[in-house]
Amino acid sequence: MKCIKLINILGATLGTGIQAQMQNSKYPAKQPIINVVDVKKQNGVMCLPDYFPLQDYDPMRPASIPTYSLPKFDEDKYTGPNSELDSDILDLLNSLSLEEKAGQMIQLQAGVFIGCDGLINTTAIEYMFDEWKVGSILEATQNRRSRWNINSPQRFANFTNTIQDIALKKGSKIPIIYGLDSIRGANYIKGATIFPAPVNIAATFNLNHAYNCGRISAKDSRSAGVHWAFSPLADVNMNKIWSRNFENFGEDPYLAGEMVYHSIKGLQGDYKNDRSKVAACVKHFIGYSSPLNGQDRQNAQISWNFLLEYLVPPFKRAINSGVATVMENYGQLNFQSTISSKKILIELLRDELGFNGTLVSDWGEVNSQFYRYKTAFDIEDAVRMTLNNGSLDMSMTPDDVMFAKSTINLVKSGKVDMKRIDESVGRILQLKKDLGLFTSPYSDPKLIDTVGSNQDVELSRDAARESLILLKNENNVLPLSTSEKVLFVGAAFDSISYITGAWSQHWQGPNEFEGDKVYDIYGESINSGVRNITGEDTNYITGFDINGFKSRGYQKVVKSAKMADKVIFILGEKPSTEEVGNIKTLRMAEDQYNLIKSVSDLTDTPIILILAQNRPFSLGELSSEASAIMNIGLPGPYSGIPIAEALYGKFSPSGRQPYTYPKLDYQSSVTYYTPQWNEYDPEFSFGQGIGYNNITYSEILVNSTELRPGHPISVSVTAKNCGIMIQNEPVLMFTTQLVRRFHVSELYRLRAFDKKLISPGESYTFNFILTAEEMSFINMDMNRVLSKGPVNITINAFSKDAKIAQVYLHEN
Ligand SMILES: *[C@@H]1O[C@H](CO)[C@@H](O)[C@H](O)[C@H]1NC(C)=O
Ligand SMILES: *[C@@H]1O[C@H](CO)[C@@H](O)[C@H](O)[C@H]1NC(C)=O
Ligand SMILES: *[C@@H]1O[C@H](CO)[C@@H](O)[C@H](O)[C@H]1NC(C)=O
Ligand SMILES: *[C@@H]1O[C@H](CO)[C@@H](O)[C@H](O)[C@H]1NC(C)=O
Ligand SMILES: *[C@@H]1O[C@H](CO)[C@@H](O)[C@H](O)[C@H]1NC(C)=O
Ligand SMILES: *[C@@H]1O[C@H](CO)[C@@H](O)[C@H](O)[C@H]1NC(C)=O
Ligand SMILES: *[C@@H]1O[C@H](CO)[C@@H](O)[C@H](O)[C@H]1NC(C)=O
Ligand SMILES: *[C@@H]1O[C@H](CO)[C@@H](O)[C@H](O)[C@H]1NC(C)=O
Repeated sequence: MKCIKLINILGATLGTGIQAQMQNSKYPAKQPIINVVDVKKQNGVMCLPDYFPLQDYDPMRPASIPTYSLPKFDEDKYTGPNSELDSDILDLLNSLSLEEKAGQMIQLQAGVFIGCDGLINTTAIEYMFDEWKVGSILEATQNRRSRWNINSPQRFANFTNTIQDIALKKGSKIPIIYGLDSIRGANYIKGATIFPAPVNIAATFNLNHAYNCGRISAKDSRSAGVHWAFSPLADVNMNKIWSRNFENFGEDPYLAGEMVYHSIKGLQGDYKNDRSKVAACVKHFIGYSSPLNGQDRQNAQISWNFLLEYLVPPFKRAINSGVATVMENYGQLNFQSTISSKKILIELLRDELGFNGTLVSDWGEVNSQFYRYKTAFDIEDAVRMTLNNGSLDMSMTPDDVMFAKSTINLVKSGKVDMKRIDESVGRILQLKKDLGLFTSPYSDPKLIDTVGSNQDVELSRDAARESLILLKNENNVLPLSTSEKVLFVGAAFDSISYITGAWSQHWQGPNEFEGDKVYDIYGESINSGVRNITGEDTNYITGFDINGFKSRGYQKVVKSAKMADKVIFILGEKPSTEEVGNIKTLRMAEDQYNLIKSVSDLTDTPIILILAQNRPFSLGELSSEASAIMNIGLPGPYSGIPIAEALYGKFSPSGRQPYTYPKLDYQSSVTYYTPQWNEYDPEFSFGQGIGYNNITYSEILVNSTELRPGHPISVSVTAKNCGIMIQNEPVLMFTTQLVRRFHVSELYRLRAFDKKLISPGESYTFNFILTAEEMSFINMDMNRVLSKGPVNITINAFSKDAKIAQVYLHEN
């Protein structure tokens, strides 16, 4: 029966020439067999011990052809989910049994299909599809006790194709959609090009990098049979202690929204036609990034006007750009479980923002209502509230089938309406059709060859280059010259993993047993980057480990620093995310402060700090002891060469702080859009950053000083490169409403930015538009209003080059 229905789908979609079309298609409709190197069995079947840190390394590598091309698409063209289903999808939906529908709504993690021997267990797969008609799978097997620490695209494809093949033969015979946490490239696939962390992409203030990262991530995912990337994060960072700040695009809603938009365009593009594309999943809706105490998944208390003004806009941008899927918040907002919230998931997400696509839960969130939050009496109660009071379509269960089981019971007992189930299953089936899964369910072997292409690696390095933020450079201590004797200190100097962080190879990054071995040939440390640039061996002492504690050579550092021309300390943080990354204070380990202080007290050698970290640690006295400070964030496995190039002046840095860098813990929730009269005295301000060049700015030109609704004004400023190097210059336009009746206005708000390469001696005029509408805000009655008053337009606030023009904002 089901086979006939599927043929109907193909027929209805592609017309009568389907056979011919499928034969001509460069994408295989037939299952490709992708051979992998199999594991050697020791004494027949063996079960691995429970904890097995040193698994085998997948020896396979993709061909990584040096160049390739992908289909082009006009990204301005809107393409995204609609509220109506295609008629063939409606027919398919109507033909499904309740059990088949419930199965579509669950997403299981890959580990469910890994046997105790660490290999694919086809018996388990067959059972799950026969019995539960599972609709979706997620996760990388290496995070789930598989035999391999990291899987080549070939092995990944072999795994996803094995599951897909069974899915098409058993149960409802509907293809699965495979999802993966791919926040910075296809970061769980060996050889796939990993990009700098999103916070670094934000620091570039160059939207092309968000787009490139999305595009390559999509192609590499699809090569492995992965159709869905749980990316990008549209959360706006509100607490600097929180472990996941590096996964977001900083603290500004406008910057985050622009970055999110371009990531989605890169990931999805023409996803209804182009099989090198995936569905994006914007997350976490909403309020996840504001845990009150900075600990992951703790309650967020956010006034509704604040939420609408600062947290909703990046999601709105994502939904308007056609994002196919959304993931809900990993916890509670204002004491309510997000997953069952009518206010958040129906009124705000569906009604106000008009989201038509598939809404997926975060990891185990339905069950968490019972197990963790105690907001449900049992699992069935949790499922009932999720379905009746929210608008969830798919539950990332991820280990069990209780969601499907409960859904079946609830419909049968009349507690949940079948119409509600149809609404969700319709969205899921439409998504599968849009992604071409009914015609191209398997991975594309041709795409595998492009994984790790040099073309991609250079794009990752470009993003890394532009993301390095030079914050201080007294007496031009940087750039270094190759004739100088430089001492490097800190474990992060000689590690790919420590400059990459979490969400790379594994959830928490490589473990301590593996170290950089899992990066294989795909990356370089700063140490090898410096050797690459200078052509000489480096003068390196570990001094302190990645946690900042005394390590090999700690006692030798002062003596060696005395003999050096300059000493560079690389301050890092152990890769981590989510609850594993919880910390209680922004203060680093004391050994690290003490060592740097000793060098400062006992030598005259200039000190340079490189900050490689998940979040902004307190520098304290180090900030004045250092002559130069460069914040490199987590620039990824291909940043060793870019960092060395920046240090040795092969280019002039151009990154800008995408968040406020606090001095002390009490400032951890301070953003640059703090109320105007409040203290704003951080270590480094939002937008701060310098290059090696002298850039001079003209005064600002506005074409009118009267700003009225419906009458935008133009704002322009000319930057001249008076230095000797090419400068990639970002220009940020802020506004401050100097007086606003009733509701205090913010110190600054970012309204526009642009970035251009300017050659020595050349000038460039940056043109921006400012509208009165942008100056509106959400008041306490939840209305968007405009309030008249004088407005300062500031170019490059918080910089010695800041320029101001004043205009007057009118209400009409
Ligand atoms: C996976 O690889 C194994 C070993 O080479 C091979 O026997 C099998 O057919 C492959 N399966 C798929 C689906 O490619
Ligand atoms: C949702 O779908 C409706 C009808 O297909 C469409 O008018 C609307 O613009 C869509 N929403 C978004 C955010 O695109
Ligand atoms: C494979 O799965 C089946 C069914 O769940 C189970 O009985 C069997 O023990 C599993 N095999 C291994 C090697 O773990
Ligand atoms: C949840 O949904 C049920 C059924 O529609 C409804 O009776 C109830 O009032 C809702 N509860 C909340 C808190 O929205
Ligand atoms: C430096 O790195 C580049 C890019 O990986 C490589 O082509 C070049 O051979 C390296 N040079 C040295 C001296 O290591
Ligand atoms: C930058 O260049 C301008 C114009 O040539 C010059 O007046 C100024 O002194 C220079 N500043 C520095 C710090 O070199
Ligand atoms: C100022 O420039 C904007 C943007 O180009 C334009 O829409 C507006 O009409 C101009 N206003 C005046 C007074 O020229
Ligand atoms: C606003 O701009 C004027 C100059 O146009 C300047 O004097 C004033 O200090 C500015 N105010 C703020 C708060 O930046």
